[in-house]
Amino acid sequence: MILHLSDLHFGTEKPECIRAIQKFCLDHQPEAVIVSGDLTQRARYQQFYHCKQFLDSLKIPYLVVPGNHDIPLYHVWNRIFSPFARYRLFFGQLEDVLETEHFYIVGVNSIRRRYHTKGHISVEQIQQVNLALERAPPNKIRVIVAHQPFYTPPDQNHGVKDCPILGKMALETWSKNGLNALLHGHLHQSAVYDLNQVYQLDSPHPVLEIHAGTATSYRLHHGLPNGFNVLLNDVDVQHYYFSEPDQDFKIDERCA
Ligand SMILES: [Fe+2]
Repeated sequence: MILHLSDLHFGTEKPECIRAIQKFCLDHQPEAVIVSGDLTQRARYQQFYHCKQFLDSLKIPYLVVPGNHDIPLYHVWNRIFSPFARYRLFFGQLEDVLETEHFYIVGVNSIRRRYHTKGHISVEQIQQVNLALERAPPNKIRVIVAHQPFYTPPDQNHGVKDCPILGKMALETWSKNGLNALLHGHLHQSAVYDLNQVYQLDSPHPVLEIHAGTATSYRLHHGLPNGFNVLLNDVDVQHYYFSEPDQDFKIDERCA
């Protein structure tokens, strides 16, 4: 199983959520921890430092991708000429691949200086991820991680404005190479959709679009609790939410 965290927003983190995630990892020992962007609130050195300290403390392999909050907002020079300098200093590559016993996970950087909120996938990224998926061992669950969602239902306020440019084209291409699931954050709201049904992708199996809420930040969406997802080895998803009375994450039985 893998633990899917998102929107940690260090600088606005809640210590009780940090402690509860550390306990969850000790108790459940996931194969990997995946963070789908917004590691920090304002891309400050201290915030990246504390985020890295937290992820290292879990003692589990992890893969992270940038979110729109991980490039400087107020430092215009850095924002234009080296938006990812601080991110790279702490986390190295913007895009990485992590292979575990059951999963093959590909990180995709969807953040651009000009499209930092909406996101953007390039034609080159579509091709590179396709090559990575082709290299994936056939018995492994194929997962892609990007900050912005590739689908939001039309009845939500978000519409399609927060789905990356070329995201649909990327999805149609990657789903031909055995893609099982996409992990996202950004909306601070948990959800799961089968994009194979939504877009009729013609995949022989579901292509799950998995959204995570914020795992640790007090910047909550419409009062929704903090939460995270667990992706099980049979490609099933469990949502967990933070229970204030218990000071711990509890499984959301409505989604289990
Ligand atoms: Fe966020």
